[in-house]
Amino acid sequence: MCGIIGYVGPRPSQDILISGLARLEYRGYDSAGIAVIDGEGSLGTRKRAGKLQVLRDDLAAHPLTDGTTGIGHTRWATHGGPTDANAHPHLADDDKLAVIHNGIIENFSELKSELVAEGYTFRSETDTEVAAVLLGREYQASGDLTQAFRATVSRLEGAFTLLALHRDQPGLVVGARRNSPLVIGLGDGENFLGSDVAAFVEHTRHALAIGQDEIVAITPQEVTVTDFSGAAVEVEPFEVVWDAAAADKGGWSSFMAKEVSEEPEAVANTIRGRVHDGLVQIPELEGLDELFTGIDRIIVIACGTAAYAGMVGKYALEQWARVPVDVELAHEFRYRDPVIGARTLVVSISQSGETMDTLMAVKYAREAGAKTLSICNTQGATIPRESDAIVYTHAGPEVAVASTKAFVAQITALYLLALHVGRVRGALTDDAIAEQVSQLEAVPEKIARVLASEQEHIEQFAHWMADTRSVIFLGRHVGYPIALEGALKLKEISYIHAEGFAAGELKHGPIALIEPGQPVFVMVPSPTSSPLLHAKVVSNIQEIRARGARIIAVAEEGDAAVLPFADEVLRIPLAEPLFEPLLAVVPLHVFAMGLATAKGLDVDQPRNLAKSVTVE
Ligand code: M6R
Repeated sequence: MCGIIGYVGPRPSQDILISGLARLEYRGYDSAGIAVIDGEGSLGTRKRAGKLQVLRDDLAAHPLTDGTTGIGHTRWATHGGPTDANAHPHLADDDKLAVIHNGIIENFSELKSELVAEGYTFRSETDTEVAAVLLGREYQASGDLTQAFRATVSRLEGAFTLLALHRDQPGLVVGARRNSPLVIGLGDGENFLGSDVAAFVEHTRHALAIGQDEIVAITPQEVTVTDFSGAAVEVEPFEVVWDAAAADKGGWSSFMAKEVSEEPEAVANTIRGRVHDGLVQIPELEGLDELFTGIDRIIVIACGTAAYAGMVGKYALEQWARVPVDVELAHEFRYRDPVIGARTLVVSISQSGETMDTLMAVKYAREAGAKTLSICNTQGATIPRESDAIVYTHAGPEVAVASTKAFVAQITALYLLALHVGRVRGALTDDAIAEQVSQLEAVPEKIARVLASEQEHIEQFAHWMADTRSVIFLGRHVGYPIALEGALKLKEISYIHAEGFAAGELKHGPIALIEPGQPVFVMVPSPTSSPLLHAKVVSNIQEIRARGARIIAVAEEGDAAVLPFADEVLRIPLAEPLFEPLLAVVPLHVFAMGLATAKGLDVDQPRNLAKSVTVE
């Protein structure tokens, strides 16, 4: 969950490191630090608890001398609280070498005991410092950073990306990865390492993906990748499709505000290039029909918002492709001995492509013989690289911790996949596919209409509700995962207790929560395309209204049946049931953002969270 950057080249590295860290800060923001080998060959470091700005201010007041080799880190604390001492880099070998780390070194306490017994001392509570001290000891033995690094990482267990530099070898940064991300940026006379391409996209779009258990050494002119034993390995080049501007705030008050405004584009871009003559053709899936014909079930695995996208996708996959689908939280899936095999397709969904729970579940599924397909938003990420097939969402970089545009892009990708699988398995006619495609293609414009007509009203309404202590969200059918998503978003960024329920479940217990004034958001199905469900939900509204609930209905334009029972109505355009979630979620994203803003909270970097959850 930490962000990592490394640089070697002719330019002063400090600004490059700090601006890379600014783009990686979404990965963790408890503390930040840099280490730079300066022109005199000495190692300068600075690290501070708090957000990156604290480090920036410190460096502005007391600059480090310039150097052209450096590493930088932004932290999400695991071992040891967010203090200056626990911030990275960690030093060793008489402060001549510096190490930064993302992940968890599981055998750190055994290693620490070994080092303490040899007389080494420690200045922090972190697992990372153990790796630094071990590296220092190995360096003393070999006098070669790459060799010492190889000996060090071979002793480590767990998940890690580590970068290191040594004062006596300026112009060299070494890195290693195991179950944690690391990519290489190739410049002209300079090279970069980063947790993801955001670290260096403003300098180069040429990148190399590194595999598991590999070590990389970069100098200004050379990039060498080996496995942990030192044998050379092939690396996969790719071009970064995002430009640096896409990862900037671009005048918006927050990344979340920008990303919500990009929801129409995220859907449109995910469809782009995958529809020809009204039919779905996903280039990445060409020649992979047997992935879909030889299966008898699909299991969707994901976490958080991505899992809610999966729950929505289940309805489409079952309705269009006629395959049974289960949706499961990735961290639960792996530990219950699931019944899977060669006739199971496991579809993982992840914006970052690095979520450890999801990654481990994908690996588990592969080892059990299942086929795997990844829906992912981030090029070069680990989960797609571990999967048999990939369908990328094209939402562009998502920086705010709260996932918004990625959610609608994930549903869109699932719908395209469902139509594709429906065709390959002969469950859908071309006409039926063309009909659904035209509905999907209409979604971006409809989302834009929701934003244009409702955003101001919802923000105002959220402002009035700033003192609310608890909110309930209800939905049925595809509205149920949307209710869960609305509740998650509110908890996550406004720290208000929120719960999402299936509306039909209410009378089985949750209705006891309703007391006068309790705000309840209700996803109301379309009266024209789902009259039966609409009637049921209107009855549910009456039941809770009779008990004093304050109803906020998310309802289709023209639905007058809800008016007598709703205190507020947030309107969405007319759509067939399966397309309603893509519209109904938009007011909920705007509401959560509006409420957090009204409470004066940082909507992009909520407390205790990080964008990429790379620990289990
Ligand atoms: O990167 P991923 O899509 O795998 O992340 C999964 C969840 O951690 C993520 O969706 C999380 O729930 C969001 N912060 C919710 O807004």
